[in-house]
Amino acid sequence: MQNIESSKKVFEFDVEKIRNDFPILEREVNNKKLVYLDNAATVQKPQAVIDAISNYYKLYNSNVHRGVHTLSQEASHHYEQARIKAAAFIGAKSAQEIIFTKGTTDGINLVAQSFVKPRLQKGNEIVLTMMEHHSNIIPWQMIAQEKDAVLKIAPISESGELVMDEFEKLISKQTKIIAVTHVSNTMGTINNVSKIIEIAKQNSIPVLIDGAQSAPHMQVDVASMDCDFYVFSGHKVYGPTGIGVLYAKEEHINSMQPYQGGGGIISTVTFNKTTYVQGPLKFEAGTPNIEGAIGLAAAFDYCNSVGMETIFEHETMLLKYANSQFKNFPQVKIIGTTEHKAGVISFALENIHPFDIGTLLDKFGIAVRTGHHCTQPLMNFFNVPGTTRMSFGIYNTTQEIDYFFGALEKVLRMLS
Ligand code: ALA
Repeated sequence: MQNIESSKKVFEFDVEKIRNDFPILEREVNNKKLVYLDNAATVQKPQAVIDAISNYYKLYNSNVHRGVHTLSQEASHHYEQARIKAAAFIGAKSAQEIIFTKGTTDGINLVAQSFVKPRLQKGNEIVLTMMEHHSNIIPWQMIAQEKDAVLKIAPISESGELVMDEFEKLISKQTKIIAVTHVSNTMGTINNVSKIIEIAKQNSIPVLIDGAQSAPHMQVDVASMDCDFYVFSGHKVYGPTGIGVLYAKEEHINSMQPYQGGGGIISTVTFNKTTYVQGPLKFEAGTPNIEGAIGLAAAFDYCNSVGMETIFEHETMLLKYANSQFKNFPQVKIIGTTEHKAGVISFALENIHPFDIGTLLDKFGIAVRTGHHCTQPLMNFFNVPGTTRMSFGIYNTTQEIDYFFGALEKVLRMLS
């Protein structure tokens, strides 16, 4: 029954209508129609997001939380509305649990510096997985080195799945945080974060979920997930660059101290002492990215108007379609073959460098990402220098995938 309902929804999904919302899809690259398959790096922006940013500058550009005049009041209102929409988008209980950041990396650094570092002592442990993006490795490495703590890395299988038994064995009384990606940016593997959080809770260990690759592709509900922290980037959810969201449970927001000082976060300042405001503003020092938050709010509205479940179903359909076509390319090794995946396919070929494939695909107007995808430990695990990665968004079509495979065939002929 569920399958019939699902395919019906996909059938009803009018991708051409969606494509009309994205002006950039009209452009040509190397005299070919753009086929944009680099959505895990960043997605294109709908007109509604471009308009929201432009309207802010045209109609009510002003600083937030600092003025009694009308423009400042309007800007502050829209900025705080964005926080409310962010909370609703990921199922947070309140906007008081939403901190605006520069993006996923900034959010992880904030948790590392403000939450974990003050609690970290020599010999303590931080549990990560083999499939983490560098942004979910380096911030932890920095504080671990400073405090003489240790990173513990949960292994993965050849199909790119987390080995749960081994993960569980890594947890000890020394573990101060578990930081895990929801969806692997390189392989598309969807981790069983509910299970990870359940295990963590049994051991009273806080959990950070890197949602950079899950927030754009599926319905997320942080309250039912019960994670302590969830981070994602605006530019991957059809919003602008330079804005992101850190969800933190209210108790953590209250207990953490800011690690960046500046205007907008204070209650009182003397040369001897500063006291801070309560709530998320405590972590937003300086003039924030106002246009970013306003553009992001428009992106949330846009995603909601399509429906996150519809987006997931459409991209899953594209994933299955593309996977079936790879069967015609036996020389290709797919990196990450688990069933439970989001719309990302990474592949490698013996003796052909991914840069060569990416450069030649670009001649056909096709954008893919090539290289290590900021996951060098994962590349070492699979013993490849890098991969070619195609990743899907809301506007991709099966025709584009057909075109991709036609081009890939020609590219591989040129390179062999
Ligand atoms: N993290 C982004 C990617 O996977 C940039 O491409």
